[in-house]
Amino acid sequence: MAATLRALASLISASADTIDARCAAAGTSFPDLEGAPGASAVSSEAVYDDPAISRSADIIIAAAGQLIAAVRRPQDSLFNLAYSVIIPAALRTANLACVPEIIREEAPVQCHVDVLAKKNNTDPLKLGKLTLYALLIAAGVLRLLVTHHVFREVEPNVFANNRISCVLDSGKDVSILKDSPLEKYVEAEGYCAIVDAMADEIGKALLHFPQTLIDPSRPGSDIHEMDTAFNRAFNFDRQIFDWYGLPENSFYLARVTEVLNDTRRLSPPGAIARAYPWGDVPEGATVVDVGGGLGLLAMDVMREYPKLNMIIQDRPGMLEEAKKYWHRQMPDTPVTFQAHDFFEPQPANKPVVYILSLILHDWSDEWSAKILRHMRNGALAETRIIIVEHVLQHACRTDNAADITPGANEDVFPEPLLPNGGLARANPYLLDVQMMGAMNGQEKTLEHMKRVLHMGGWKIEHISRVPNAFRPYIIAAPL
Ligand SMILES: C[S@@+](CC[C@H](N)C(=O)[O-])C[C@H]1O[C@@H](n2cnc3c(N)ncnc32)[C@H](O)[C@@H]1O
Repeated sequence: MAATLRALASLISASADTIDARCAAAGTSFPDLEGAPGASAVSSEAVYDDPAISRSADIIIAAAGQLIAAVRRPQDSLFNLAYSVIIPAALRTANLACVPEIIREEAPVQCHVDVLAKKNNTDPLKLGKLTLYALLIAAGVLRLLVTHHVFREVEPNVFANNRISCVLDSGKDVSILKDSPLEKYVEAEGYCAIVDAMADEIGKALLHFPQTLIDPSRPGSDIHEMDTAFNRAFNFDRQIFDWYGLPENSFYLARVTEVLNDTRRLSPPGAIARAYPWGDVPEGATVVDVGGGLGLLAMDVMREYPKLNMIIQDRPGMLEEAKKYWHRQMPDTPVTFQAHDFFEPQPANKPVVYILSLILHDWSDEWSAKILRHMRNGALAETRIIIVEHVLQHACRTDNAADITPGANEDVFPEPLLPNGGLARANPYLLDVQMMGAMNGQEKTLEHMKRVLHMGGWKIEHISRVPNAFRPYIIAAPL
């Protein structure tokens, strides 16, 4: 056992040495968690462009997570896991109270809790009159977050931003945010929309996940597409996208579109333009972003290949958000916005490429196959789909790691680490359960993805990976 602890510690040490050496060779230094005054969150991320640094960082994360699990008393680990549901609530509170923005405006690096409370029109000393914001902030929301390395407590009750809280900062003026809460999320610099949504409608839905999943009257087939944890939590019997489309939920729709933007920004700009041989697609050829949302992927392609006939398809409400977004970002680039239900026949004429980003993971296999079948019926023999989705690895070592599908070879972490990278790669597994709870979907292993594609009339041709991209690009061809 001590040998495992030592092995994990050695991995951490050796990887830290690699990072140090690579940074020294490049004449830079690894960004400090405390954050350097004046350094933007974006500039501090450039260090990960070096694949050796990025890989070493992953090894450290995987090993450190495993080391903590191995060394901590198991009941302490279990308690911490059970209690971790509180962290999104604390993060959202700091987000809604604009703590990162207030700290940025009040002082470059720090801010007393009194100032935070005053900005929110409360007085931390008048305990009888405390509002929720001041009470939670004063009583420990920030300290809980500091304990998890978000913000710093630089003196008793004096809090400063650090490298993590900086990426929660919307970059907007607090005065604007007070009058227009939605403004915080619209093309924000930080990832505040995802933090807000996870502790709001998504978090509420997930609290209903266990009872929904184990309900014996719910065998889990596609007839239960509208009996998800979300449906039960909101007592709503249609799809989550219908809920977002209700007039009274326009705030949630606008915010969830910004969640898509946050998600997109987890990959380097223009990653999809490097994931596919777009140069071989003739000018004027039709490309369809199916269920395109804001059309973020289409936009990445059109920035580099503006002569394509790009069609963004989605539900009418989402398309209105997309039009506004394109108008702000790329007003001079001609694209077509086409209202289309992907459970109906594909209306686009002879598409050469379909983009299908974060769609299949929303639906059961049967419903995913219906979407794919309609796309297949509208396709040419040479049409390809670029599917932007995670490919989940098993968490055990397998004999068949070397799949013959080009690009499928898994990124296996060395012994004694979990082969799938453990905490270094945990997000796709969190998303998997999120998709099961919010919709009736799933992230998929490679075998699972192949099966669903086959049901819809497609097969995987290869998997394209772009350095530091959050997801791979699965290129599928007609069967
Ligand atoms: C997770 S989002 C992905 C958006 C976009 N592809 C991206 O990666 O940013 C799912 C999208 O599917 C759209 N959608 C849901 N049901 C649909 C349907 N029946 N027909 C067309 N689009 C639909 C939603 O409006 C939403 O934009």
